[in-house]
Amino acid sequence: MRKLILAAASIAALALVGPAAAQSPIVIKFSHVVAPNTPKGLASEKFKELAEKYTAGKVKVEVYPNSQLYKDKEELEALQLGAVQMLAPSNAKFGPIGVKEFEVFDLPYILPDLKTLRKVTDGPLGARLLKLLDSKGMTGLAYWDNGFKVMSANKKLLTPADYKGLKFRIQSSKVLEAQMRALGVIPQVMAFSEVYQALQTGVVDGQENSWSNIYTQKMNEVQKYFTVTNHGYIGYVVVVNKKFWDGLPEDIRGQLDKAMKEATAYGNGQSQKENDDALEEIKKSGKAEIVTLTPEQDAAMRKAMEPVYKDVAGRVGQPLIDEFLKETRGATN
Ligand code: LMR
Repeated sequence: MRKLILAAASIAALALVGPAAAQSPIVIKFSHVVAPNTPKGLASEKFKELAEKYTAGKVKVEVYPNSQLYKDKEELEALQLGAVQMLAPSNAKFGPIGVKEFEVFDLPYILPDLKTLRKVTDGPLGARLLKLLDSKGMTGLAYWDNGFKVMSANKKLLTPADYKGLKFRIQSSKVLEAQMRALGVIPQVMAFSEVYQALQTGVVDGQENSWSNIYTQKMNEVQKYFTVTNHGYIGYVVVVNKKFWDGLPEDIRGQLDKAMKEATAYGNGQSQKENDDALEEIKKSGKAEIVTLTPEQDAAMRKAMEPVYKDVAGRVGQPLIDEFLKETRGATN
């Protein structure tokens, strides 16, 4: 009897596996480290919606936010190993895997606004940078925005002197390290998911990030002052495992390309609003003070960080910095 039940069970299982296997969708695991209600979180959900729609369910996109699967450094390794298929790490995160050119985006005050950024990302320079990722086993698909970064601490940060001796969390970028050192800050590399606790327990004194990241991580509950420096940009490169991507049927890849294009336009079209809304929420919560700089204080911050360009030229590449500046500041450099 027992034998019979087992045999029946395996026939039933076979019957299930047969047709189900023929229809089982291609799964794209999309891992990221931020909250769902951020520019990256919303763009990844939009990509999921469109990818599943355009492929009529032949592709299933599973989005894993909030470092659920992997923290900063691990997620790139996971992509290279094929444990996940898609990510959107910030530009800074490509330095540690050997594509230091992306750190050019981290240079202080390199972008006056998002419109100027488009000239780089939508032009030949942006395309060339994406190509560099091929040798790392990944294909660069798109540039997604977050926005501009502000500084925070439990003291008011008005002039460069106010930063001296403070410990700040940074992403693992040599440019960000140089930027902090230019202010006399002791930089500490730390995964994004650990920042809130590090601020709460005083492991670090301060940090830099966009309003949407600050608000969704509740950093405004553990930092008293946020200074509107807008000193740097934080944005992402959507990458996919190259072997996986190249192995997709051409029609599916075409539909995914279309979904990515539209998700990018959607996400980049509203990233500014996401950050503006987050700032409003932070103001409403009344837990932290928002500090704005006078033109003189702003000029002093810019001056203090200017040496960073020379400090990192050897690493990022002077010709690349020059080319970037030509796009963003005009042809005078
Ligand atoms: C950070 O680590 O601060 C950011 O890169 C997080 C993110 O992905 O926006």
